[in-house]
Amino acid sequence: MMEPQENTNDDSVPSPAPPPLPRERIPVQKGSVCSRSYFMVVMVFFHVYVLNVIALLLYVHYNSGSEAGSSSRDFSSRSNGHKVAEPLDPQPADPGFTRRMHLPRIEGIRVGHVQKVSLVPGKMHEMKTLSLKPLLFEIPHFLSEEECSVVVRLAQLKGLMESQVMVPEGQEELNQQLNLSPEEIFNLLDLNQDGQLQPHEILTHSRVRDGIWLTPENLREIYAGLKADHDGNGLLSLEEFGQLSSDAFQRFLLQRGVKRSQLVRNSRHTWLYQGQGAHQVLRDLRNRVIRLTRLPPSLVELSEPLQVVRYEQGGHYHAHHDSGPVYPETTCTHTRLAANTTSPFQTSCRYITVLFYLNTVEEGGETTFPVADNRTYEEVSLIQNDVDLLDTRKHCDKGNLRVKPTKGTAVFWYNYLSDGRGWVGEQDEYSLHGGCVVTRGTKWVANNWINVDPDYHRQARYQQLVSQQESQEQQLEKNPEQNTDTHQDL
Ligand code: OGA
Ligand code: CA
Ligand code: FE2
Repeated sequence: MMEPQENTNDDSVPSPAPPPLPRERIPVQKGSVCSRSYFMVVMVFFHVYVLNVIALLLYVHYNSGSEAGSSSRDFSSRSNGHKVAEPLDPQPADPGFTRRMHLPRIEGIRVGHVQKVSLVPGKMHEMKTLSLKPLLFEIPHFLSEEECSVVVRLAQLKGLMESQVMVPEGQEELNQQLNLSPEEIFNLLDLNQDGQLQPHEILTHSRVRDGIWLTPENLREIYAGLKADHDGNGLLSLEEFGQLSSDAFQRFLLQRGVKRSQLVRNSRHTWLYQGQGAHQVLRDLRNRVIRLTRLPPSLVELSEPLQVVRYEQGGHYHAHHDSGPVYPETTCTHTRLAANTTSPFQTSCRYITVLFYLNTVEEGGETTFPVADNRTYEEVSLIQNDVDLLDTRKHCDKGNLRVKPTKGTAVFWYNYLSDGRGWVGEQDEYSLHGGCVVTRGTKWVANNWINVDPDYHRQARYQQLVSQQESQEQQLEKNPEQNTDTHQDL
């Protein structure tokens, strides 16, 4: 019994096993015991090794299998945009929304990556990734020349208004409401806690005073005019700060007179409705945005109207976020109706910005993304050595990314990250952007903002509310006799 076993074992031992000992060397009986234990150890290692290899192979197989699966899905969706684009929903509000609320996000892959998208029948567009932070894309020829002209003419017909009116609004109210002492304010502003206020500490906190954009030079002028910086070192001590009255600061600014170029934004704009009954070009544009973003149509349809903006020569828009951060108390402007609470924190909840260039600007007027794909985002680092990266009149050339306005091109980006569960997450601070000063000619752009409430239930309630209202209106249209009272009233 033993022998065959030993033999079999000997046979099965792989090459590292000692060669069979010559028979005549019988005294090495001890050695055979030794070789058995040696053989056992080798076998254990061998099995562990084989199992490891098998496990590794299985892991690699399944991992690459799922990746291959998803990337092949992506490729097929890219090569034929029909698959990824949501079918055009003729209903304005989607009753199935609550069941399948999910926000697809387009993959950027890498900067410079170009994917084909199908936005209009019989035509393919190319969509290029411009940055990953924020997730930003450019689509040339999104609008035809004719469509651009129609949008501009419609805006002109409607009439444009000043984007920023120069009405001073008391900024003091918040400080007064919060009841902060000068020391407390000083400590909040003194970011590096060195007991002095550097110009960038003041500007980081409030670049904008009554709608006026402050630069480091402005600040120096104000200090000089109000004799605020006694020792002339360009910094404010707590004592100097305490003596600088906020009213005096404000009066000084307004007395100097405010030019349009000193405002946050120097442009005119109007809003164009894109729903039923709107001009075909505007409706087409909205449908194209639905296909581009792959979002539920109802979400896009319930978003803000199209904003058309005109910058004259010398016009600009300093860098900003289109939508604010979300705190637990934050409410969205668009779902206010469905929210049961009122909150002092309200923002426009613009999940996506789609920006259309309606003309090619002769010179300047680029859209700048000063911190796109930056390694880090730090608010304090935005002003360094008198260079304010948010200032699009002076420092556009120092930002990380600029898009040249070309007629018919669209760019779009996500102002919020994903929450990892298919819904809106935190604000993407890297989405900071602005309009560089137009140095020659005029600039026409249009914004399509897609509003999504980061609170999933609030968005769902809002959509339900709107669809109920719409079906009631439709009912009334079908049976006008039900509404005789109203008619009589009218
Ligand atoms: C805006 C905006 C950029 C541009 O209108 O919100 O950021 O290039 N515009 O005009
Ligand atoms: Ca300081
Ligand atoms: Fe913007």
